[in-house]
Amino acid sequence: MNEEHIDIDVLLQPGDLREGLEHDARVGLTSTPKTLPPKYFYDATGSELFEQITRLPEYYQTRTEHALLTEHAGAIAKRAGADVLLELGSGSSEKTRLLLDALRDTGGLAGYVPVDVSASALREAVEALRRDYPGLAVHGAVADYDHHLDRLPHLGTRLVAFLGGTLGNFPPPARATFLADLARGMEPGESLLLGVDLVKDPARLVAAYDDSAGVTAAFNRNVLTVLNRELGADFDPAAFGHVAVWDAENEWIEMRLRATRSMLVQVPALDLHVAFAEGEEMRTEISAKFRSEGIEAELVEAGFELEELWTDASGDYALVLASTSSTA
Ligand code: SAH
Ligand code: AVI
Repeated sequence: MNEEHIDIDVLLQPGDLREGLEHDARVGLTSTPKTLPPKYFYDATGSELFEQITRLPEYYQTRTEHALLTEHAGAIAKRAGADVLLELGSGSSEKTRLLLDALRDTGGLAGYVPVDVSASALREAVEALRRDYPGLAVHGAVADYDHHLDRLPHLGTRLVAFLGGTLGNFPPPARATFLADLARGMEPGESLLLGVDLVKDPARLVAAYDDSAGVTAAFNRNVLTVLNRELGADFDPAAFGHVAVWDAENEWIEMRLRATRSMLVQVPALDLHVAFAEGEEMRTEISAKFRSEGIEAELVEAGFELEELWTDASGDYALVLASTSSTA
């Protein structure tokens, strides 16, 4: 089935993603230290590896967010009073079903707009939702929320969901810009539901990003396979070790790939040779962890009004509901 048949807007053509990758890889591979942005993890293999991560014993985030949604989706749906659920970085849309059910129970749900950079994850999610929610208008968008926030389908009063802790993958300055852009693009009376991971014992955090089965390591190395395929590079993923460290000052987990030997990598599409020293580390992701007061302040700074913040009993994870002022 192609995208047209299942009602998916493609705002991000494969060529655009490749162009973005060329730019980002050139900047990141020639920086000191070297970096790569996390959005390129999510080809079909990376999206599948992420789904496996969500089921790992060490990765408590997905389970905890699921439990919080089970408990509070009814209240969220009532407070939001939305006709449309728009979800950024929707992935498999599995947890989202709890919100869809609650919004449907409030009687107002007209549509669901999942948005993801991963065409494969989006297509699978849309097909499954079409099957399981026959009366619901599911209108997906393959899009990059770094570039397309103002071009997403606007089919009614929205509850915008950004779950899974994905906000933490932005560096702080980009996070502030993203939240302010999001607030500016929302109509008065629309709502934002954010899922964020909270600061906790560093040992638990590191374990969540360095699981004993090695799934997160495979997810991390997969970005090199993406560079090989898309840019003709000759990275040897097996020559890089997976590293997950807690940065206490910035309160984020940093994932890195460490060169286990010195090597020269060719990237023909960029006409670039990239030298790695033995032990050199390249940053592939930050995953910021939040404190309740901090995320509340960031939302207010961006132009939102705080409605409610829920955490689980252990204080591991938070759901935050915010709105755009109905008097603005
Ligand atoms: N919300 C889901 C998935 C989280 S994984 C959950 O909570 O389990 C992060 C998701 O964001 C992936 O599906 C990835 O493809 C998507 N993503 C990452 N960067 C993106 C970007 N810039 N624009 C749109 N989607 C992005
Ligand atoms: C999508 N994002 C919130 C995940 C995270 O926890 O930062 C991605 C991930 N990286 C390693 N494991 C999971």
